[in-house]
Amino acid sequence: MSEYLFLFAFFSIIGWILEVGFRSFHAKTFINPGFLRGPYLPIYGTGAFFLTVCATHLAGSSLLVKGLIYLLVTTGLEFTTGFIFERYLNIQLWDYSDQRFRIKNHVCLKFSVYWLILAFAFEYLVLPLYLSFFNLLSPVAVGIFAIVVSGIMFADWMVRITGAIMEEKRKRNPTPDNYRSEFMDIAGPLIDHPDVQKLAEFRHHLDKSRFDHSMEVAWHSFLLSKRFSLDCATTVRGALLHDLFFYDWLREGPRLHGFRHPKISLRNAREVTTLSKREKDIIKKHMWPLTIIPPRYPESWVVCFVDTYCTVKDYVAGERKNLKLRTN
Ligand SMILES: [Fe+2]
Ligand SMILES: [Fe+2]
Repeated sequence: MSEYLFLFAFFSIIGWILEVGFRSFHAKTFINPGFLRGPYLPIYGTGAFFLTVCATHLAGSSLLVKGLIYLLVTTGLEFTTGFIFERYLNIQLWDYSDQRFRIKNHVCLKFSVYWLILAFAFEYLVLPLYLSFFNLLSPVAVGIFAIVVSGIMFADWMVRITGAIMEEKRKRNPTPDNYRSEFMDIAGPLIDHPDVQKLAEFRHHLDKSRFDHSMEVAWHSFLLSKRFSLDCATTVRGALLHDLFFYDWLREGPRLHGFRHPKISLRNAREVTTLSKREKDIIKKHMWPLTIIPPRYPESWVVCFVDTYCTVKDYVAGERKNLKLRTN
């Protein structure tokens, strides 16, 4: 398992280097390609994974059979990725509109031939080199690299995809007024509770209070739960109470706050209201993967994604503000 994760992470980085080189050379300026912020392109890692599996199973097959399968895998992957991003997120990752023999700007003959050549180069040149390099590494180094890089890629993916879905949703249908009143009908009784009000006294992320953060997470989680037809009341209630702890986590509170505050919040939330199984799961797992056991319900995944997104957004906005102040 860790061998494949390592392969995926390794070739995602190599693919990024190749693509940056190719695009920046053509544009004569630095271009960071892809959807994620970091120096990796998962499409190359995924391609390398499929090609390795194919190369292993097709050993001894004719070049024609291999060629057809490689063409199908690489072009199929390129088409699926391009199609999903354009169709569901309205993001165009690449554009073949200036090429001949193309399908919907997602794939074109010229690049499919390039991918085919690269697939053979991968099997006969890159894979043997990679395997001799891989065999030099200790299993511990492989495991650490695979987990750390894939973990960073996953977090990057979570933040970007949540942001893109919310942005797309906002563009397609501006929030109707009745959403706001429905949200307040659910959230109102909890917002009025003195323990929830008390969250306004604590700074949570830079200048933002814990109350404002909880409201922001609850609101975006509500919109996403509407989008995916989930249990909105459960999502909003769980999100509002997910950080219900009463200390300045930067200066006081228990050690390993990141791991422990979900349980503290759950204990406090039980004092405020009676919680359903799903609401408990939302609060207990909102810090996943720190809390190891993954969320059990889709509502819990939504709050976990949105919480991570809002947190990163707050710090990125804070950094930008600092940078502006420093340069002014
Ligand atoms: Fe939290
Ligand atoms: Fe939070």
